[in-house]
Amino acid sequence: MRKTIFAAGVLAALALMSAAQAQTVLITGSNRGIGLEFARQYASKGWTVIATHRRDSTPETLAELESEHENAHAEKLDVTDHASIDALAGKLAGMPIDVLINNAGITGDFTQPKPQSLGTLDYDMAVRFFRTNALGALKVSEAFLDNVAASDQKKIVAISSLAGSFEGESGGKGGIYWYRSSKAALNMMMVGVAADSRRKGIAVALLSPGTVKVEKVAEMVDRMGLKGFIEPSESIAGMISVIENLTLDDSGAFIRYNGEPQPF
Ligand SMILES: NC(=O)c1ccc[n+]([C@@H]2O[C@H](COP(=O)([O-])OP(=O)(O)OC[C@H]3O[C@@H](n4cnc5c(N)ncnc54)[C@H](OP(=O)(O)O)[C@@H]3O)[C@@H](O)[C@H]2O)c1
Repeated sequence: MRKTIFAAGVLAALALMSAAQAQTVLITGSNRGIGLEFARQYASKGWTVIATHRRDSTPETLAELESEHENAHAEKLDVTDHASIDALAGKLAGMPIDVLINNAGITGDFTQPKPQSLGTLDYDMAVRFFRTNALGALKVSEAFLDNVAASDQKKIVAISSLAGSFEGESGGKGGIYWYRSSKAALNMMMVGVAADSRRKGIAVALLSPGTVKVEKVAEMVDRMGLKGFIEPSESIAGMISVIENLTLDDSGAFIRYNGEPQPF
């Protein structure tokens, strides 16, 4: 039987272990990119990692992670499918989750800007962006709130983007309408979650990962000699450190991977 199918006994043992010593992180969209690097780094630190993906079968990257780390478990979770979210939340009921990372997201193909450009906007595409980037994180946060509240660390983060900011280097720009506005909506929703879950002792933050050289852009970045990209290892190590230092006083903040404040 694959490890992806948690037996009730395994779950109970995990819950006990989480309560006693090991910390637990749940990551959405963790089969590649930033999510995969989060899963790898947390697994290497000895955390119990619930590495979620939306595929029909366990992606190779996560099967490999499971084989390398006893403490890593792949689970299916499509953030646009509320039944899938509720199903996993039901399965993990009672299990403390110290850190919930809302990472799953879509960007669109920036080399094909038309569907996200004024004059040629594709409004069906907009719905997909909002359902994934904004509503997905909200629903996941809502579904696992009790798990986070039951943990030691009580932290929820969402991977946003400086593209969603009204101020700072990205403010006042046009283009990539769906990506930018869905991230701005995500920011507003998570600020709401921060306010509403403060009384449960849960700290919530938006994180800006920098411009990260994930697999899907790596070849293009190298071929075109694009500047300003950082390696996933650097971005994620930075964000893990930000999460480690997160307190209730910071709740509702937007923070860059290097710990600097990111303007909303
Ligand atoms: N890379 C950057 O420079 C950068 C900068 C700022 C913000 N971000 C944000 O960081 C997050 C991760 O980005 P990335 O660069 O790692 O992107 P990526 O390489 O495209 O990975 C995106 C991940 O999200 C998953 N995903 C997409 N839709 C999903 C859904 N409905 N349910 C569950 N999982 C879903 C993907 O799964 P599949 O493999 O099945 O598609 C994949 O695992 C995103 O929120 C992105 O907006 C990235």
